[in-house]
Amino acid sequence: HRITCIVGARPNFMKIAPIMAAFRDLTPNVHAQLVHTGQHYDAAMNGQYFDALGIPQPDINLEVRSGSHAEQTANVMLRFESTLDASPPSAVLVVGDVNSTLACALVAAKKNIPVIHVEAGLRSFDRSMPEEINRVMTDQISDLLFVTEREGCGNLLREGIDESRIRFVGNVMIDTLRHNVGKAASVSQILEDAGRARFLDGRDGYAVLTLHRPSNVDDAATLRTLLECVREMSVRLPVIFPVHPRTRQMVERFGLARILDAPTILQLPPVGYLQMLGLMKDARIVLTDSGGLQEETTALGIPCVTLRENTERPITATEGTNTIVGRDPERILAAFDDVMRTGGKRGRIPELWDGNAAKRIALAIQEWLDATPRH
Ligand code: UD1
Repeated sequence: HRITCIVGARPNFMKIAPIMAAFRDLTPNVHAQLVHTGQHYDAAMNGQYFDALGIPQPDINLEVRSGSHAEQTANVMLRFESTLDASPPSAVLVVGDVNSTLACALVAAKKNIPVIHVEAGLRSFDRSMPEEINRVMTDQISDLLFVTEREGCGNLLREGIDESRIRFVGNVMIDTLRHNVGKAASVSQILEDAGRARFLDGRDGYAVLTLHRPSNVDDAATLRTLLECVREMSVRLPVIFPVHPRTRQMVERFGLARILDAPTILQLPPVGYLQMLGLMKDARIVLTDSGGLQEETTALGIPCVTLRENTERPITATEGTNTIVGRDPERILAAFDDVMRTGGKRGRIPELWDGNAAKRIALAIQEWLDATPRH
């Protein structure tokens, strides 16, 4: 059997790494090919992840780059269609919820090539998020759906997806975290590399901040409020802020750079996986609107304050260390204050976030392909 695995954007890389390794090591009769759509292309958003995570070089790069949602999705579809026509695989495997995920799933489904979705069933129930559209649509056209938290199975069943297609296997992102946590970069090295070796001198810990959701950064007033809130927190706890390219553009476009110009705020370019892991692992608190960081902080036992109104990963809040606070500065500051005073939520590790999700996925796929006569 030949499986075409898709990656496109940064959060896909840590999910595909253990899956490619599991196919290589565990399933001799499944050959995995890697297609990169090129949605993310900068070295900071792309190349450094492949090296750090040991992901094989993609067999094909579709080089779509950025654009509006329609442009980006359509470009992936057009280019991926030619790839599939040249050599149709037994199945296409997509991960996560980015535009590349939906685009490739849709092309394959229309060609009657089975679609496998890893990280299926997550729902924020907020259709204003582009990722929510990608999640719902991808799951509807997938033939085999791998779920990270049990609630996801219920979401899929409610949307009419047959139980026989759904497998609760745990979280591949946590496989990658467990595999790499011993190799995480030290904070002192990260500061030294940034030319700010003394940034934390005389301070008791630090916060890590990431922001990139369009709902937080594409609107000037919202972004200003959030950054002012960050500045206020930084008086009590220094903030390390790796800045996503989308956010960098918006900060400049809206003329907000001076809010971040404080001795207790350290802006970095987007950091690599091992650097981000190092920053999170020793942080007192992580403030974020990322999906992945909500899960990684829960796995690491670090308090996370999520700057969104909802989450598609509810287990991080019900069982993990995550608190969903939205964008109201009062609520953000109250949650921050709570972590400063009490150390924040303790949390526990969710079911099957045990480092073996990719193995379960590879073996399940092999069994499924063997049992499906047309392949
Ligand atoms: C995408 C995903 C989002 C994910 C995020 C992680 C979708 C709908 N969104 O959002 O779910 O959480 O990736 O990063 O798929 N840019 C660069 N260099 C790059 C890539 C992008 O400078 O290598 C800039 C471009 O100006 C681009 C902007 O960032 O227009 C946004 O990139 P895009 O891929 O459209 O979406 P993200 O915001 O990164």
